[in-house]
Amino acid sequence: MTEEKLKKLEEIKANALSDISSAGDEGQLYQFKVKHLGRKSTLITILRNLKHSTPIDKKIIGSAANKLKRELEVAFELAKKRLLIHDLTKERLDVTEPGKKVSTGSIHPVSIVRMDIENIFISMGFSVADGPEVELDAFNFTALNFPEDHPARDMQDTFYIKSSEGPKMVLRTHTSPVQIRYMKANKPPFRIIVPGRVFRNEATDSTHEHTLHQFEALMVDDLINVGHFKYVAQQFFSLFFKDKVKIRLRPSFFPFTEPSFEFDITCTVCKGGGCRACKNEGWIEIGGAGMVHQNVFAAAGYPKNRYQGFAWGFGLERLAMMKYKIDDIRLFMSGDLRFLKQFGV
Ligand code: PHE
Repeated sequence: MTEEKLKKLEEIKANALSDISSAGDEGQLYQFKVKHLGRKSTLITILRNLKHSTPIDKKIIGSAANKLKRELEVAFELAKKRLLIHDLTKERLDVTEPGKKVSTGSIHPVSIVRMDIENIFISMGFSVADGPEVELDAFNFTALNFPEDHPARDMQDTFYIKSSEGPKMVLRTHTSPVQIRYMKANKPPFRIIVPGRVFRNEATDSTHEHTLHQFEALMVDDLINVGHFKYVAQQFFSLFFKDKVKIRLRPSFFPFTEPSFEFDITCTVCKGGGCRACKNEGWIEIGGAGMVHQNVFAAAGYPKNRYQGFAWGFGLERLAMMKYKIDDIRLFMSGDLRFLKQFGV
């Protein structure tokens, strides 16, 4: 009985070793491993059935079968290494094969324009400030002198953040709340610019987008006047368009400036003569501006009638559209690489 079983083990060993040496790849080797060391293999069945054997078999067959099991395991490991090395030698390098195309990103046109603008303003002594895109309703509106029932707070324009507790929050509708944040933390004199993303809850078309970028400028000192604004704006646009640009102000209304204006620049296409781009006006509307309202200074913690300042804000996409002659604002957020790849590096 015991003899027979030992013979059986010898047989298993011979079979297994021959299988192992004939395995041509890892898959085959794995199959042989299942066959000889798997749960249903003869060897493992013998080991499993030992508990029903005589004490003498338990000892003799048990140790022989366990030894064989270890031997086979080692043999499989060695064979695996051999096959791996073998596989590597089969690999070869074809130096004439064309390389894989690596696609690189390009700088977004809005980023290019933002960097251009920042560089010009920095050269004029401005610094760059920023603030959060999810903003306190109190900073986006109240501190900027919007009355509680002002139509701009209407659900039509503003994305309100849903929350049952804490202060009311919005996706900022403009970069002007950064005026408040900056003034709360700094004392005049200062001049800053604030580029940033803003959100409007409105239907989109070729000139309207719900997510866009604005650019705020704010200059505060003892005696700042509209002349400072006009000069800085003229200087900026002339440098930006690399051309002599004139500024025109038209009366307007913003709760946070008094007086307030819309400002236009001479058409960059016809230089003021009148053409299709400016609908024969000779002027192109750019953005809003004005002298900082004393209520805004007060909301920021400054004494009333102590300082004067100008503020202005405009859409970055609009400027990029003029610079690159783009006719649909929705292209910027489209993620369309054919569009985006055309600009800069
Ligand atoms: N925040 C205004 C807007 O989004 C623009 C503006 C900025 C107007 C600063 C006046 C002064 O329309």
